[in-house]
Amino acid sequence: MVRLVTLLAGLATSAVAIAAAAQPSAVANPANWPRASSPAAITDARTEARITALLGRMTVEQKVGQTIQADITAITPAELERYPLGSILAGGNSGPNGNERASGTEWRTLVAQYRAASMKAGEGRMPIPILFGVDAVHGHSNLPGATLFPHNIGLGAANDPDLIRRIGAVTAIEVAATGIEWTFAPTLAVPQDTRWGRSYEGYAERPELVKSYAGAMILGLQGQLKAGQTIAADRVAGTAKHFLADGGTLGGKDQGDAVVGEPDLVRIHAPGYPAAIDAGSLTVMASFSAWNGVKNHGNKSLLTDVLKDRMGFQGLVVGDWNGHGQIPGCTTTNCAAALNAGLDLYMAPDSWKGLFESLTADVKAGRVPMARLDDAVRRILRVKAKLGMLEQPRAVPGSPALVGAPEHLAVAREAVAKSLVLLKNNGSVLPIKPGARVLVAGDGADNLTKQSGGWTITWQGTETTPADFPNGRSIYAGIKDAVAAAGGNATLSRDGSWSTKPDVAIVVYGEDPYAEFQGDVPTLDYQPAGATDLALLRKLKAAGIPVVSVFLSGRPLWTNPEINASDAFVAAWLPGSQGDGVADVLVADRGGKARRDFTGKLSFSWPNTAAAPVKAPLFPYGYGLTYAARAQVRPLSEVPGVDIAAALNVERYFAAGRALAPWTMTVSDAGGARPVEASAVTSPSGVVAIRSVDLTAQEDAKQIVWNGQGNGSVSLSGPAADLSRQLNNAFALAINWRVDRAPTGRTVLSFGDRGLDITALVRAAAPSKVVTTYVPLRCFAAAGADITKIGYPFTLATEGALGVTLSSVRLEAVTSGDSCPPVVR
Ligand code: BGC
Ligand code: BGC
Repeated sequence: MVRLVTLLAGLATSAVAIAAAAQPSAVANPANWPRASSPAAITDARTEARITALLGRMTVEQKVGQTIQADITAITPAELERYPLGSILAGGNSGPNGNERASGTEWRTLVAQYRAASMKAGEGRMPIPILFGVDAVHGHSNLPGATLFPHNIGLGAANDPDLIRRIGAVTAIEVAATGIEWTFAPTLAVPQDTRWGRSYEGYAERPELVKSYAGAMILGLQGQLKAGQTIAADRVAGTAKHFLADGGTLGGKDQGDAVVGEPDLVRIHAPGYPAAIDAGSLTVMASFSAWNGVKNHGNKSLLTDVLKDRMGFQGLVVGDWNGHGQIPGCTTTNCAAALNAGLDLYMAPDSWKGLFESLTADVKAGRVPMARLDDAVRRILRVKAKLGMLEQPRAVPGSPALVGAPEHLAVAREAVAKSLVLLKNNGSVLPIKPGARVLVAGDGADNLTKQSGGWTITWQGTETTPADFPNGRSIYAGIKDAVAAAGGNATLSRDGSWSTKPDVAIVVYGEDPYAEFQGDVPTLDYQPAGATDLALLRKLKAAGIPVVSVFLSGRPLWTNPEINASDAFVAAWLPGSQGDGVADVLVADRGGKARRDFTGKLSFSWPNTAAAPVKAPLFPYGYGLTYAARAQVRPLSEVPGVDIAAALNVERYFAAGRALAPWTMTVSDAGGARPVEASAVTSPSGVVAIRSVDLTAQEDAKQIVWNGQGNGSVSLSGPAADLSRQLNNAFALAINWRVDRAPTGRTVLSFGDRGLDITALVRAAAPSKVVTTYVPLRCFAAAGADITKIGYPFTLATEGALGVTLSSVRLEAVTSGDSCPPVVR
């Protein structure tokens, strides 16, 4: 009998083991994780007693309200008087009164309005000021004039924890000066596949460096916590994010799935957190991503058993932008599961109201235990207490004049200089010699938008102008001054043309700004289509001019052809607003001595092919040349090693005069369909004629003419793509075109299998001018399109006559709430 039981138990165990091997576990065993503990200063007895007293007087609604955070674009101060929410955020695309360029004073006013409203909420019971959070992820990056530091990838190359602490302190001063007390930083991701669009938000691909920075940044932002004392008026709360393994997802997919065993989760992705917790991080943000198929927002073993119990975290766990809605069984407005798993504060930007109602009902019905709710509220109140705002608003310290203070800009300039990594310097073309005639070329040379990257003024960092950087200095501006100081002269020529032959050319180029999943790429090839920068480098080299590449990017990319075409190659990452830091290292003084040597070392492996993740790097982690220790880089293979065209591309369909792989263009009429492959194609019965034309470059557009003799259409099709993320983030189908002849009949735009009547939109498009027409994806979704399977992202059809010149078709995030064209049934 005993033996039989043992035998059965043995069978059961091996069955479990087999199941576990097939379906990797997403349940953590806390004993395998490092221990840590929030400083006792967070939980001093007096504060805890005050919180207990407050909790005892709060209604269920007030408690539930504390656990919800809304975005400024979706809640008014007046609504906050009615709904006692605990927190407000301003997301990447949200600015005071719809203005992303608002001044520090306007931010102060806005925060004060919400704060005052929150003090009125639940009047007669308990006024508790809201916590206000922003993404100050490389300085106070939503604010024109703020000191913008290099993005984290560049800081990783600097390998200097003390610098990180000083950056945290400067950021805190500037954030606090605008009345805000909380930043959603630092990101402690350890990116393993740099196709991920957020790679640049990570310090390094190795945990040691992330660990050494985590505590330093938290101490810089918050200062050292002291028992019984609030943090200083010029410090702010930090956020260790995104817990956990945001940088470990399969294929580097944003918001994806980290398919790794627990040992790797602990060894690679966790180390930053204990360090941040020990340093006193007041908040931790849950990651959008999943671990072995289970979304972190709903993973109790990670949020509660590991983070709160094993790692002793006593602050609050905030969710990510509607991230709770991704838990199976949840919607953005209904999700007790997240709170039950250990989330304390829901980031419910536009879903707060529905969530407030459903969660109140959940608590009353016992679907959320009162003890769990009380614990969440206690953690939120603890953070407020530490910020000195438990029952009264925090005193607003400093003045907006501190934003962009000279001593702050100096720290950023130092960081830029320290972040530069020298990958090649054949013939010692660097440093630039005194008296040199320098040609500064490339579209990144005098371009603060490009050097600052994503999360700059706007979410994506796009659409900014020089006016958005009142304290900004471009890389060119720095080179010009430094070269002049050494007795030479530098001239700017974006396209590299010159009249007097220069002694040397510095070409600044690289990735355009992006954020989050919009930056996910299919391969590590820098410029798979066009290679315009390579052409520029080669042109200069062919003219016998020594070429220095200054490469701006949010990740190491396969640039072998560009490296071959350069005598020197500098990885400059996304340096931010203080471009002078580049010249500080690149340009010698009058005596010919370098003013500063390179100290930056790669914190990510530099790829030797376009394949990811990087296996055999061209330049390994830790690599970086100096003026003192030289090396000769020999010619590199220019074979990318992956089928670039085949790599999937779900947001860009048509550009540069052609459908972008894997998408294809087809033209049809009653006579059938035909692929548009040649430069002139007519539909089988002759209704639609298409030919390549020049808009701003050679054959960069297609002119499409409908003759009005029957129904005809042109469409783009490819593999069925799931576009729910794009739908959830207010994307639109963006058509860049010129309407050459207004439609004479009804014109229908289809996305998937649903069509909208866009006749009026097309008529409104100014004739003979290139414009972008946006149709929000939600319009197609509302018409019934299945957004999870879109194989036909663009079909334009009409029976009438129509003429258009198509420049590009893509998906793009939009801020405005364009109304929807009528549905065609
Ligand atoms: C990002 C977070 C960010 C939040 C608020 C999310 O989409 O993942 O990093 O803090 O938005 O803007
Ligand atoms: C917001 C960002 C947020 C993103 C979520 C944007 O609309 O402005 O802050 O991170 O959506 O993916």
